[in-house]
Amino acid sequence: MKGIILAGGEGTRLRPMTLVTSKQLLPVYDQPMIFYPLKTLLQAGITEVLIIVAPDRAGDYLRVLGSGKEWNAKFTYEIQDKPGGLAEAFVIGADFIDDQSVTLVLGDNIFLGGDAEIRDAITSFKTGGRIFAKQVPDPERFGVIEFDSSGKVISIEEKPPRPKSNFASIGLYVYDNRVISIARKLKPSARGELEITDLHKAYLAAGELDVRVFTGEWLDTGTPDSLLAAGNMIAQSRSSGAKPSA
Ligand code: TTP
Repeated sequence: MKGIILAGGEGTRLRPMTLVTSKQLLPVYDQPMIFYPLKTLLQAGITEVLIIVAPDRAGDYLRVLGSGKEWNAKFTYEIQDKPGGLAEAFVIGADFIDDQSVTLVLGDNIFLGGDAEIRDAITSFKTGGRIFAKQVPDPERFGVIEFDSSGKVISIEEKPPRPKSNFASIGLYVYDNRVISIARKLKPSARGELEITDLHKAYLAAGELDVRVFTGEWLDTGTPDSLLAAGNMIAQSRSSGAKPSA
């Protein structure tokens, strides 16, 4: 299983802080943001990690993360010329993935207290696509997953104005090698991006999308308020002796 961290994007909601460096290198309590999703991958046993970065920030990542040797891992870097969408990770990362399965994690997502379920989702993975859902108060901002009464997935929609549930798809995804060919066939959406929700629709149509409800804490750190909240939560979990992926 290979791992990819998407750490490109523009981070417009965190300006002017993201004029200094990339969003995913900003501090969350006492560590650069990307350390958290990186540790999530490493703790699940993934040691070959591709870090996808924006062109003007590559030097910062190399300086902070290097070859991966200090992490007992191997890091590879690719440039995403412009934010072409989350699913573009598999087009950019095709050579790196080679003939393996792959786990993608978003560089600004933090998972607390769910190490075991993430590890299990990754180590037990065989084929298809496996994603996580979490109930949120503002599902219209995310990919929204609708379940029937037996828990089977019926639909998945990207940022629907009228969400059919409050289950959002969160930023950790596991796929078999077909993800490369599916991503290559995707057409950009109206906002000009290759949408990860379209990938999920393809796996769902093939009856091969497994959705697990994540029971740990999930934090998206893309806004000033959520960045502050994440820092406070990490600080609290440290002082209470809880064991986050940190
Ligand atoms: P977003 O938070 O949706 O986008 P952003 O980081 O550019 O921030 P903003 O909306 O404030 O401008 O991205 C989610 C994560 O995915 C984040 O870690 C950046 C990353 N990303 C890429 O690396 N490439 C992309 O093409 C996109 C859309 C996101």
